[in-house]
Amino acid sequence: MGKMTAETLQANLLEAMADFVRTGGDDNIHRLAAPLLNGELERIEVQPKDHPAAPHLPGMQDCLLPTAQSLFQALLAASPTLAWQVSYNVDDGFDEEYLRRYAWCDVIGPHGIYLSDEYRIGFGYWREGLFYPPHAHEPEEIYWVIGGTGLFTSGDAPPAYKGPGSIVHHEPGVWHSIDMSESSVLVVFLWKGRNLHKRSAFEA
Ligand SMILES: [Fe+2]
Repeated sequence: MGKMTAETLQANLLEAMADFVRTGGDDNIHRLAAPLLNGELERIEVQPKDHPAAPHLPGMQDCLLPTAQSLFQALLAASPTLAWQVSYNVDDGFDEEYLRRYAWCDVIGPHGIYLSDEYRIGFGYWREGLFYPPHAHEPEEIYWVIGGTGLFTSGDAPPAYKGPGSIVHHEPGVWHSIDMSESSVLVVFLWKGRNLHKRSAFEA
């Protein structure tokens, strides 16, 4: 078998995401995953971006949701072709170590790989030992945990441990945080709304 192209690896990832959503998602996920479920998406060429956290992704195998195995393998295969990024910098109060230990990549969104103006769907990865402080943003958001366990806080609800298979739903503008001091966490994130790449607000 020849070396698979970025386009093929990304198409495989997109298909694995669609399968995962169809078989495992709830109504909110199906709503926020509309572009995955509804036919053709336009693909654009996105420059891959490496990130120091990305090589650690295979370690999530040890704490993975069993039904996410195919999705995880598709993510690992496509990972070198994806643009792994961070939303913050040291001026936002995140230290260098934090910025080395977390990253996200879009698969669907306004900047590609597959274009959507209204939706963002991709992967978020935080290595063990991080605390994502309270923040809020305009788009509605779902974190669908596929590996690891974090202590999630959302709005006024008491903090709750969410592990593989858990679905965490944030309405627009709700303050939320994640304590990942005890475990790495890998999520599929699904966003719907406007200002899909606007930086989150943080508590003063
Ligand atoms: Fe969020």
